Amino acid sequence: MQRLTEEQVLFFHLNGFVSVPTPVTDDAEIARMRDAYDRMFEQRAGRESGDQFDLAGADEDGETASLPQILNPAKYAPELNEGKYLDVLKGMCQQLFGPEASVHVAHAIFKPAGHGAATPWHQDEAYWDPNYQYQNASIWMPLQEASIENGCLWFAPGSHEWEITPHQPIGGDVRIHGLEMTRLDLVENAVACPLPAGGVTFHRNRTAHYAGPNKTNTPRRALILGTGRGNHPYPGTRSFPWNEVKQTARDERARAAS
Ligand code: NI
Repeated sequence: MQRLTEEQVLFFHLNGFVSVPTPVTDDAEIARMRDAYDRMFEQRAGRESGDQFDLAGADEDGETASLPQILNPAKYAPELNEGKYLDVLKGMCQQLFGPEASVHVAHAIFKPAGHGAATPWHQDEAYWDPNYQYQNASIWMPLQEASIENGCLWFAPGSHEWEITPHQPIGGDVRIHGLEMTRLDLVENAVACPLPAGGVTFHRNRTAHYAGPNKTNTPRRALILGTGRGNHPYPGTRSFPWNEVKQTARDERARAAS
């Protein structure tokens, strides 16, 4: 079974991210996953329930999404919950977080050919409940090659040690679900992580990251999985006002469906 090298484990703990350019499964499995992935987006799976929405736009009906995202994609494409890739990733997560660590399929972010928007600099924890502290990581797996041109991930080394920096809905537009950091001066020495299909990156809950727009004429598909240890109550108080101001069409659909 494919494992992380000792250098990769050390690099992750030191920098808050690591890039694993060796595919975690074979081409046939990646092709099957890609088919399931495309079907899900073509059918607009989860739109009614609020699980599918535009991360970077106002997401009103009839608009073309610039950065469509699906939460819990395995609900709509159960194939994604099976396969060799999950066994390999689970083993790697246990190397990083200990024998209790499991792995789950979290979401899918699609950058359409030619017009897929950038995913601005952010820390994932900024989206979550401020009353907890987290010790977890996201795994980002492209289902075709990911390059600087089509929107591979970039990381700010060492940013996993930061507190959560100020964020806002993208462009300050409260109709938009996606968040962006407002202190870009903090991002230094960003590292791009191009990958082949089926390669992965791991990044911590506070690691600042970014993905560029898709300037190519083919779609960029990324599957994001989660792993880590359980959450604990946050010691002290903090608030994430950027989530409280949001008024998204997605939340409205979720409310109407529930
Ligand atoms: Ni993120």
